[in-house]
Amino acid sequence: MEKKNIDWSNLGFGYQITDYRYVSNYKNGAWDDGAIITDPNIVINECAGVLQYSQSVFEGLKAYTTQDGHIVCFRPDLNAERMETSAKKLEMPVFPKERFIAAVKEVVKANDAWVPPYGTGATLYIRPYMFGSNSVIGVKPADEYQFRILTTPVGPYFKGGVRPLTLRVSDFDRAAPRGTGNIKAGLNYAMSLHAIVTAHAEGYDENLFLDPATRTKVEETGGANFLFVTKDGKVVTPKSDSILPSITRRSLVQVAKEYLGLEAEEREVYLDELKDFAECGLCGTAAVISPVGKIVDHGKEICFPSGMQEMGPITKKLYDTLTGIQMGRIEAPKGWIEVIE
Ligand code: PLP
Ligand code: COI
Repeated sequence: MEKKNIDWSNLGFGYQITDYRYVSNYKNGAWDDGAIITDPNIVINECAGVLQYSQSVFEGLKAYTTQDGHIVCFRPDLNAERMETSAKKLEMPVFPKERFIAAVKEVVKANDAWVPPYGTGATLYIRPYMFGSNSVIGVKPADEYQFRILTTPVGPYFKGGVRPLTLRVSDFDRAAPRGTGNIKAGLNYAMSLHAIVTAHAEGYDENLFLDPATRTKVEETGGANFLFVTKDGKVVTPKSDSILPSITRRSLVQVAKEYLGLEAEEREVYLDELKDFAECGLCGTAAVISPVGKIVDHGKEICFPSGMQEMGPITKKLYDTLTGIQMGRIEAPKGWIEVIE
């Protein structure tokens, strides 16, 4: 296969149409066989469940070219499981895990010319998603659904690569206390749009959302979980029922303990404690680990000792180990890497 002629090293996090996508339709209580297709456009009824009542869930994972030239993806089984949880919560049918993994592999293989070469810093972002496709006008779940996977080559999520970010403590909430914050539903991201647009307008890179019940604890940003490092080198990640259970964060906790010999704990993190941490990062598929240099809480600046120039030393070790595992430079724990070709 000949790679596409793209300036891979200068890609941002944007959508670019690739050649193939996967689609399967659910009707009369069953999924059809699914197929790889070329048409990137979707035609649905004006009253489709997704258009009227936002019945949609999605996932995000990446395909990597490893040092020895294979194309792989990272823990797609966990994306399949999370999508199952998301679908059930929005009264949608489950796309079976084995089929989900097979479809990811099939669509990446079809688009292998779009998988960025090793060493460019770019990856192929894989976006599985599902939505209610038939008409509903009374508030109820749709009867028909479409599951699709699109792929697009991407670079870093935040402009400037690993430049430390500045966040603000948001006055808006992204989730409700017993709502949908812990699933990957499009509606959560719609909720975050006003907060992100106003944060950018005020010169911040992202929002730190607080827990919606008490507004005293750290939740996450619009698209990534937090990871903190204490002054004595312990990794701490916030625990909450209303944040997305990040696969990157769960993997990093294991990497911290098993590869770096660090202590790592998942616990409630109070806004008041932020000033005591040595390092802060955002973790997610798109964000990988993006360092945070400063958090502004209504004019009060919390500056992490790692500063505004580079990643903190432990964040850097975590970053190097995780990306080393993903790119085949470091041996992965069993079952983490799915070889595609
Ligand atoms: N939190 C939110 C709100 C997200 O959208 C994402 C991205 O998927 C994450 C956290 C990170 O999750 P993961 O590491 O599974 O990509
Ligand atoms: C991901 O990291 O895959 C996400 O879905 C987050 C989104 C903000 C791009």
